[in-house]
Amino acid sequence: MQWGYVPFLYFVAVLGLEAAMQKECRIIKALQNKLTYQQRLQYMKHYFPINYTVNVQFEEVLRASNITRLRDENVSELSLRCLWLSVNSQVLLKIWAVLLEKHPSWEYIQDLCLLFEQLAEEYEDCNQGKVDTNVWDVVEQVLTSDAGSSQKAVYPKVLLDNCVKVMRMLYSESCE
Ligand SMILES: *[C@@H]1O[C@H](CO)[C@@H](O)[C@H](O)[C@H]1NC(C)=O
Ligand SMILES: *[C@@H]1O[C@H](CO)[C@@H](O)[C@H](O)[C@H]1NC(C)=O
Ligand SMILES: *[C@@H]1O[C@H](CO)[C@@H](O)[C@H](O)[C@H]1NC(C)=O
Repeated sequence: MQWGYVPFLYFVAVLGLEAAMQKECRIIKALQNKLTYQQRLQYMKHYFPINYTVNVQFEEVLRASNITRLRDENVSELSLRCLWLSVNSQVLLKIWAVLLEKHPSWEYIQDLCLLFEQLAEEYEDCNQGKVDTNVWDVVEQVLTSDAGSSQKAVYPKVLLDNCVKVMRMLYSESCE
């Protein structure tokens, strides 16, 4: 290859990355707009019976503190995003599964599921080769709904609160 091509190819690669990032950030922005405090309160608390909980796997309770700890362990940002994406895709499906189609939160959760599906399309790199091993083990466990994993009863609003807090940690810098 002639050296003259190199800056050009670099330029194309950067443009490609930026386009991908912009698409990702558009989806994140849409998620932010759908996951405001008011909407979480209304759809995940007021429309549910008092103290209603959803059963999730232990690993699906992914809090800000988990991310802080994993960052201290130098886990890559890609791994963290893959973890957040797979955990919350599963969590949303579990909330959706307890709703009838006429439930006032049904469509809300459906919209969120669709946005997560779009986001997953941007993350082809979420595979065993690219994700840090210890995180991949958790991702795999979440995706296969490992029967051996212990279950936890969690308020649906708390699950989405976790989703939003972690989303802010992972995307506020790159998508501002
Ligand atoms: C809901 O949970 C709270 C805190 O655990 C408890 O004080 C309250 O009695 C519960 N309400 C109902 C209706 O079960
Ligand atoms: C999150 O942190 C809790 C303890 O705070 C831990 O038990 C759990 O395994 C962690 N989850 C993940 C996915 O790292
Ligand atoms: C993480 O990286 C920092 C800086 O490179 C290093 O000082 C630290 O020891 C690493 N921590 C772990 C748990 O590997």
